[in-house]
Amino acid sequence: MAREKCVLAYSGGMDSTISAVWIRERYDMNVVTLSVDLGAGPELIGVKERAAQAGAVESLVWDVKDEFVNEYIFPGLKAGAMYEGVYALSTALGRPLMAKKLVEAARQVGASAVAHGCTGKGNDQVRFDSGIMTLSAHGDPLRIIAPAREWGMTRDEEKLYAAKAGLELREVGSDQRVYSIDRNLWGQAIEGEDLEDTWVEPPEDAYSWTKPIADTPDEAVEVTIGFERGVPVSIDGKAVSGVKLIEVLNAMAGEHGVGRIDHIENRLVGIKSREVYETPAAIVLHTAIRALETATMSREQQRVKANLSAIYSDMVYDGRWFTELRTNIAAFMDSAHEFSTGDVRLRLHKGSCMVVGRRSPYSLYDFDLATYSTTDSFDHESATGFIDIYSLSARTQARIQTNRETR
Ligand code: ARG
Repeated sequence: MAREKCVLAYSGGMDSTISAVWIRERYDMNVVTLSVDLGAGPELIGVKERAAQAGAVESLVWDVKDEFVNEYIFPGLKAGAMYEGVYALSTALGRPLMAKKLVEAARQVGASAVAHGCTGKGNDQVRFDSGIMTLSAHGDPLRIIAPAREWGMTRDEEKLYAAKAGLELREVGSDQRVYSIDRNLWGQAIEGEDLEDTWVEPPEDAYSWTKPIADTPDEAVEVTIGFERGVPVSIDGKAVSGVKLIEVLNAMAGEHGVGRIDHIENRLVGIKSREVYETPAAIVLHTAIRALETATMSREQQRVKANLSAIYSDMVYDGRWFTELRTNIAAFMDSAHEFSTGDVRLRLHKGSCMVVGRRSPYSLYDFDLATYSTTDSFDHESATGFIDIYSLSARTQARIQTNRETR
């Protein structure tokens, strides 16, 4: 009988390389690696060679950047998806797509199992496992293997294991800090080392996408983002793809020190963890779309959106991407953004991202209603009648029950 196959989510890093060997030995399975490119930059260079070195029978590399942007990042942007108000959910939005690709790959190569590199302490295992189980619920069940959650090796034992397996590890000098980093187009999450002390300021070497304020240009830069129905489509009047737009903004805003987040975060598994993020483009785009909404949505739409946005953000964080409720809220967001078409002008300077202008053919800002000048068209007299009825219940209660003059 042919050996069973396992598709392993593979980054080429030490943990996932050891995992490939470990799965083969522990489960006696053939390993097919799958590296999905979510825009993490040069990380995937040489990944096929490393997979072969670890004994993988096949190595798949899939570029899913466009799908990531159009089906995950932009819906998240429309929904105002910011966990606890600060985290743009870069990792959390990437996981469901990775889970989807793992299932697709498993079906394609006829695998009976899939594997990911998550430990038992984080949110990512929940996102992967829930995603995989939900997506495969209709067909043959897929076994989920999570080596780092199962093997119980310490860092030093991992190194020994790797050496015994003859794996070449990228050696890092002992004086250098090794952070645990997860990155994609939408941002990078940095954990570990000195960051575990919440009183210690993140060392400069934790950051790589954003400049420290002291090194940013003295001159501010202005950028105009064009939106169509809540989707960013242009920079400074030039139409660009979503992937390009995010890449350009990451570089531009990072240069001006925009996008550093230092946060104590509530993990789904109950742990509070110190998280450092760099998400320059996400900060710019969230700031921009919020500014556009203030012009194109009614007050009530804004309020309902804000409420649903909080629920949506928690759902994305908690690994509930593939649920009907998440789909329902996304449909509301699409509908609420029907008229979010227009431009937002922002100024980037010394770590700040400030809105300095917004315009839309559908802007609800009506100059003649808002102005105090001679073209004022607001009916001042009807205000008196409005307030009379508006304050009626408060006045009635004061008259009959509370006499607020003496209380
Ligand atoms: N705390 C973030 C989240 O749960 C990021 C985790 C990323 N992992 C890492 N190794 N830095 O979405």
